[in-house]
Amino acid sequence: MLSCYLFLIISLMISFRDVRVSTFDLSCTSPVFTPSALVVKYGDPANVTCVVCQKDCSGDSFGLEHAVGKVTQNGTTMIWTVDRLTEWDTFVVCYYNNDAGAQCFSILDITIYQPPESVSISFVNHTGMMFENQQYTLQCSVQNVAPVQNLTVTFYRGNTALGHLQSNSEEKKPVNETFSLNITPSREDNGAQYWCETKLELGPSGPQRPPVVISEKLPAIVHWWFTDPSCTEFPVFTPSALIVKYGDPANVTCVVCQKDCSGDSFGLEHAVGKVTQNGTTMIWTVDRLTEWDPFVMCYYNNDAGDPCTHILDITIYQPPESVSISFVNHTGMMFENQQYTLQCSVQNVAPVQSLTVTFYRGNTALGHLQSRSEKKKPVNETFTLNITPSREGDGAQYWCEAKLELGPAGSQRPPVVTSEKLPAIVHYGPELKEPPNPDVITITEGDTLHLNCSSVGNPSPSYTWTLPTNSPSYSGSVLTIKSVGFEHEGQYICTVSNPIGTVTKEFNIDVQVNSIPYIIAGMILGALVLVGLSVGCYCKHN
Ligand SMILES: *[C@@H]1O[C@H](CO)[C@@H](O)[C@H](O)[C@H]1NC(C)=O
Ligand SMILES: *[C@@H]1O[C@H](CO)[C@@H](O)[C@H](O)[C@H]1NC(C)=O
Ligand SMILES: *[C@@H]1O[C@H](CO)[C@@H](O)[C@H](O)[C@H]1NC(C)=O
Repeated sequence: MLSCYLFLIISLMISFRDVRVSTFDLSCTSPVFTPSALVVKYGDPANVTCVVCQKDCSGDSFGLEHAVGKVTQNGTTMIWTVDRLTEWDTFVVCYYNNDAGAQCFSILDITIYQPPESVSISFVNHTGMMFENQQYTLQCSVQNVAPVQNLTVTFYRGNTALGHLQSNSEEKKPVNETFSLNITPSREDNGAQYWCETKLELGPSGPQRPPVVISEKLPAIVHWWFTDPSCTEFPVFTPSALIVKYGDPANVTCVVCQKDCSGDSFGLEHAVGKVTQNGTTMIWTVDRLTEWDPFVMCYYNNDAGDPCTHILDITIYQPPESVSISFVNHTGMMFENQQYTLQCSVQNVAPVQSLTVTFYRGNTALGHLQSRSEKKKPVNETFTLNITPSREGDGAQYWCEAKLELGPAGSQRPPVVTSEKLPAIVHYGPELKEPPNPDVITITEGDTLHLNCSSVGNPSPSYTWTLPTNSPSYSGSVLTIKSVGFEHEGQYICTVSNPIGTVTKEFNIDVQVNSIPYIIAGMILGALVLVGLSVGCYCKHN
């Protein structure tokens, strides 16, 4: 009897499908259901009315096909009722044949729902205490819900929604489904409660208040520093700390306990890698460490049942991908005694906390800087230093060096990356090389005169001379007069300029008579007088 009934349903469905494909007639006015859609809780009663046709019902070839329930008829109005709807895959089809002989029909949109029987929350692969900044997975298990497609699951910490999740399943019958969410608790979360809420959103035809079922509350006990005073010894790692370059292999040995290991309640918790065990010695190994926050914890429960734990101190590092230097908001020339800002940009370094950046001018270290960030993953960071260049710094080169100081357990040589060199061109006003002159320079007639006004400056300064009247002008740094005459006496002013400034130097020249020719002439005259006197005496005596 049942198989006969099933056969009838299947053949009906097939014939309706064929009708739809082959002879669907646009002149069909579809039968009308009231309400237009049914949303029924599993096991509840239900009813719907179908007006088969309004004007076009010529024959008696109409009806209402149904898998369960019963039908009463009033003219061309059919009423379908069921006392307890306990079929998940039911159907109700209303149909007639119109004048043109086409079959016109409507299939009732019917949703049968069942709120979750139970909802519970737990951690995946984890019980007991949580540690700050470690990742854990919460799971919300929902039992016997239909249709799961309409279910929304929300995770909460206290009153804070952490995330909404939905199922991809299109199953109409009740299913069990588990939804999961990753969390990384912080110490502020200690004492908070995790829970999840499920809501069946059944649309406008559904119940006014969507069915909601919530889980129990799961307390979060977050440890950020764990020592139990009743533990007389803690597990020992060898080496005591690990410093590993990202992507490199690593291993560590943990001796869980020496004497206090009574039970078999000990182990090594780890986020990545694998563990081999030899008695109470655990060896953790990983081929390529590609987690920035791996978690390795060795523990046992002592005789008193207290957990004695040791979390491995582990640092994953990555030397900077690149380091570059530049000026902030500045290109082109610098001026003496002005302030400028140098910046050193470091790309993709971890952990930035261990990074020291040193700025250099030539071989002189100008300053060391460090980051305040505690990020474990690679970051880009820019360090700045104010400088006030002096003329002595002109022509020097600025550069910066980034060094990852990983401590004594790190590699012998800290990874160092340096920037390119940035030439410093410092502009400054002229400065005289020679000290100021005595008030008056005395020079003998006929001698060579050098007036030296040599100066330094950037850009290179130019010279203009103001000379005693009627002398030609001059524009060199040293003024030379080969043979000085009395006409060269007077005041010389040298003016040294560049775009930044001007200095002047004054020379007062006094020319003296050259007395040597007069002395020689005097001596010759004296000699002649002596000769004349001698000749006169000789003549007088003879
Ligand atoms: C939980 O742990 C078991 C065995 O240790 C493992 O097979 C499974 O993949 C873990 N599940 C998740 C979600 O990590
Ligand atoms: C650089 O200049 C821009 C616009 O002139 C300004 O908004 C910015 O604050 C300057 N940066 C620094 C570090 O002085
Ligand atoms: C001028 O003075 C500078 C600095 O003392 C010196 O180097 C230079 O040789 C001098 N020039 C002459 C022509 O004496």
